[in-house]
Amino acid sequence: MNDKDIIDIENRFMANVFSKKPIALTRGKGALVWDINGKEYLDCSSSYGVALLGHCHPKVVAAIQAQVAQLITCHSGYYNDRRAEFVQKLVQITPKGLDKVFLSNSGAESVECSIKLARKYTGKPEIIALMGAFHGKTMGALSATWDKKYREPFMPLVPDFKHVAPDNADKIREAITEKTAAVLMEPIRGEGGVRVPPDGYLQAVRQICDEKNILLIFDEVQTSFGRTGKLFGCQNWGVTPDVMCLAKPFAGGLPIGITVAKENIMSALKVGEHTTTFSGSPLVCAAGCAAIDALIEEKLTERAAEMGKYLKARLEGLQAKHKIIKEVRGLGLMLGMELRFDVQNVILKAAEKCVLVLDAGRTVVRLLPPLVIEKEQINWAVSVLDEVLGEEENERASNTVPN
Ligand SMILES: Cc1ncc(COP(=O)(O)O)c(C=O)c1O
Repeated sequence: MNDKDIIDIENRFMANVFSKKPIALTRGKGALVWDINGKEYLDCSSSYGVALLGHCHPKVVAAIQAQVAQLITCHSGYYNDRRAEFVQKLVQITPKGLDKVFLSNSGAESVECSIKLARKYTGKPEIIALMGAFHGKTMGALSATWDKKYREPFMPLVPDFKHVAPDNADKIREAITEKTAAVLMEPIRGEGGVRVPPDGYLQAVRQICDEKNILLIFDEVQTSFGRTGKLFGCQNWGVTPDVMCLAKPFAGGLPIGITVAKENIMSALKVGEHTTTFSGSPLVCAAGCAAIDALIEEKLTERAAEMGKYLKARLEGLQAKHKIIKEVRGLGLMLGMELRFDVQNVILKAAEKCVLVLDAGRTVVRLLPPLVIEKEQINWAVSVLDEVLGEEENERASNTVPN
C-alpha cells in the first residue's frame, strides 16, 4: 500500500468524523514519526496527548512483547497479576487519599464513571461544569463539555448539567443547589484554549465543595502524567479532588481510561453497577506498569518542567517578533499560543514543514510535545513556527487571507 491507497481506503470506509491531514504515518520513535515514504515529522502533539514517553518507548515495547504471548485479555471477573501490579503502582503516584481505581478504555469513559459515581455517592443528580470545558463526546461526558458545535446536534443530552463561567469561584457557589452532586472541571482547560486558572481559584473551589458537601472531580485526562511539570496538574496548586479522571498516556499508547477516587466514594458503586469488558486487560496493564516506571525512572515530570520553561521562553521570543501572536500561556509542556485569527492555516503549513501541532479552539495553536523532546527538537519546532508565522503575516499584510 502506498500513501494514496491508505488515504483512499480510510476515506472510503471510515466514518468521516476526524479532521484529517493527508499524511499516512507508519512509524515512530521518541518525538519523531515517519510517513510511509520515510519523511520525518516532529510530533509536537504526542498523538493528541498520548505519547508522553515518546513513540514506542523501549520499556513499553518490551513489556507489551513479553505480555502478549502470556495473556492478552482477562475479564475483571477474574484476578490478574499485571492488573494488580498496575493499580498498585498507580495508587503509589496518585495524590494521597485517591486510592480506589476503576479502569476503562478512554478519557470519556473515565468521565462517565466519575459522573455515575458522583450521582450514586451523593444521591443527587446535578453536575456543575465550566464554560469552555472539554470532557469527551459520549453522552454523559458530552453533557459536561461546553462547545455547542459538539452538543447541539445530539440534544437532548443528559439532564441536570449546568455550566458556569470559569476562574471565578463565586460563580460556582451561586450555581450550587440542594440537588448538586459535584463540580467537574479540568485544572487547566486544554481544548478550551490552554487556560491556566488564576492562583487561588482551585483552592477556593475546593473550599466551596467542602463547605457545601459536594464532590470535586478533576478531569486530568490532558494535564496528568507529568505534562504540566507536576505528576498531576492539580499539584501545581496543592489541591486534591475527591475523584480524578485519567486516560491518554497512562498505558504508553494503548487505550486506557482511569477513574480514581477516595475509597469511601468509590465504594458507593456496587457489584455490577459500572463495568466494562476490557477493564484492566493484562496487555494494557503491562504497558501501564512500564509507562509509570519510565515516567518515574527517567524523571520526565522534572524534564517537562525544564523543557516547558525553555519552550515557553522561545515562544515568547516569537511573540516579541510576530504581532499576530496575542498571548503565550501554559504550564510545563502544555503550551498554547493564541493568534489574532483562525489557526488552521498555520497548523497545516507547519505540518507541510514536518512539525505537527494541534489547535485548541479557533485561535490557539497548542503544543503538547512528548516529555522526552530534546532541546534541538524544540529549536526545530520554533524555527518552523517562526517561518510559518512570518509567511502568514506577509500574506495577511497583502490581504490574501481572510480573518
Ligand atoms: C480533558 C479531557 N477530558 C476528556 C477527554 C476525552 O478523552 P477521549 O478522547 O479519550 O475520550 C479529552 C480528550 O482530549 C480531554 O482532553
